[in-house]
Amino acid sequence: MIRLDKIQKKYDLGDTEVAALHEVSFEITAGEFVAIMGPSGSGKSTLMNIIGILDNATGGTYYLEDYDITALPDKEQARIRNTHFGFIFQSFNLFPELSAMENVMLPMSYAGVAYNERKKRAAELLDQVGLSHRMSHLPTMLSGGEQQRVAIARALSNKPNLILADEPTGNLPTDKGQEVLDILTDLHKQGTTIVMVTHNDAQGEMAQRVINIRDGLLASEVRR
Ligand SMILES: Nc1ncnc2c1ncn2[C@@H]1O[C@H](COP(=O)(O)OP(=O)(O)OP(=O)(O)O)[C@@H](O)[C@H]1O
Ligand SMILES: [Mg+2]
Repeated sequence: MIRLDKIQKKYDLGDTEVAALHEVSFEITAGEFVAIMGPSGSGKSTLMNIIGILDNATGGTYYLEDYDITALPDKEQARIRNTHFGFIFQSFNLFPELSAMENVMLPMSYAGVAYNERKKRAAELLDQVGLSHRMSHLPTMLSGGEQQRVAIARALSNKPNLILADEPTGNLPTDKGQEVLDILTDLHKQGTTIVMVTHNDAQGEMAQRVINIRDGLLASEVRR
């Protein structure tokens, strides 16, 4: 499904350059649950941003299904991003002025889904994450765990094949983090591919494969 071939990322800071990834190569098969682990600053989020086409590599080739992502124009990259990926971030990244329902509806409006269908699906997804009683709440009226569940519902709105979760439990207490992990585990059982960055060894053990990143390099891989 995904193949990274010698992916590099250099951030150009004018007079200096930060080499965040050096020739990282690996594959992810459809249906896998992969954890990405490594110290702070090792390049995990950089890698996730490239996989999710939120950012472009500065070297190497990224294949997603039959597409060479690195060779595609921005517009085509955006289309693939919106149709293939669901994103879950550590800091939830909800729009503060939109209700839970409106946040979940938003990606569907980018994808051209009709209003009534958006509303129906958003209600179903919020129900699925246990928030049918909080649909009209603004993010500030929700707990952290509830906000992250809205973000998961939003990530699922366009029926993605692949969920990218960058420390999805990083800002949650253990019990609320477990709720988020349970939802991700269920999605994986239903066939969704999951790539999750985590600092937590126990969470890494839930994945079928752990990719360890150190200093922008793939340091080791563990398969279960
Ligand atoms: N936009 C940017 N401009 C310049 N340097 C950056 C940028 N984003 C990240 N970096 C640098 O690239 C390196 C990798 O950063 P990245 O965010 O990928 O690390 P990480 O593994 O996700 O760390 P953490 O566990 O703290 O989230 C770091 O040295 C960081 O300072
Ligand atoms: Mg990070």
